[in-house]
Amino acid sequence: MATPLIEIDNVHQRFGELEVLKGVSLKMNRGETVVILGGSGGGKSVLMKHIIGLLQPVKGSVKIEGQEISNLKERELAEVRRKMGMMFQNGALFDSLTVGQNIAFPLREGGLRDEEEIAKRVEEALAIVKLPDLEAKMPSELSGGMRKRVALARAVVDRPCLILYDEPHAGLDPVTADNIDHLIKDLQTNHGITNVIITHEMRSVFRIADRVVFMKEGKIYWEGTPEELSASQDQILQDFIHGRSAGSW
Ligand SMILES: Nc1ncnc2c1ncn2[C@@H]1O[C@H](COP(=O)(O)OP(=O)(O)O)[C@@H](O)[C@H]1O
Ligand SMILES: [Mg+2]
Repeated sequence: MATPLIEIDNVHQRFGELEVLKGVSLKMNRGETVVILGGSGGGKSVLMKHIIGLLQPVKGSVKIEGQEISNLKERELAEVRRKMGMMFQNGALFDSLTVGQNIAFPLREGGLRDEEEIAKRVEEALAIVKLPDLEAKMPSELSGGMRKRVALARAVVDRPCLILYDEPHAGLDPVTADNIDHLIKDLQTNHGITNVIITHEMRSVFRIADRVVFMKEGKIYWEGTPEELSASQDQILQDFIHGRSAGSW
């Protein structure tokens, strides 16, 4: 068996009295697109922050390509993080920087100083999100959908093998959401990228997910394919899919 790209084992996390993760175990393989579903406050964003090492588990382990990351020093962690791109929830751009400077930000943070190389990478990232020649614009000149795509360009600019998206569809109209989904699938298909996506947009789940993970009360409640999710007789899953409030997720 190949080593999973991400291996989360019995992860616990708490903030004061609040137990947020209560023993989460999950594997994700290279090249797949995994969607994480679940009610607000269920610990989805917190779980994602463990994958990029922004949070350390109180108990349990997080491995990336077989390497335990929950006890790494900042410098070693920075190395592992270079394999990952992240689109944060409400992933804001820096308003005072141009689109190009925004996208170049992770490269400069990572220590790249070769301006020619930076310009080339920024151009490549903008091409991937299908927004060529936008370097000189200011974020305020862009539509909401274009800003999301610039945020995605920033996530891909350091050529990660894994991209984490925290609610990339939030606040988007259906056409723009579809557009983002095409980009996500394109990254998987044509760039071999593994995608992990938190979303509430059910149409997108069925368009993009190879596998769905449903979190409830700090645990993995269910996992399976989108087809299995549709066919499931589980009341909580069905209520969630159809936006009914009867379930207590
Ligand atoms: N840094 C933090 N400090 C204290 N509480 C937090 C922190 N991050 C998240 N929480 C709490 O943990 C719970 C789960 O949050 P989160 O993972 O953001 O939920 P969601 O599933 O909506 O993404 C929430 O009750 C949230 O308020
Ligand atoms: Mg969240």
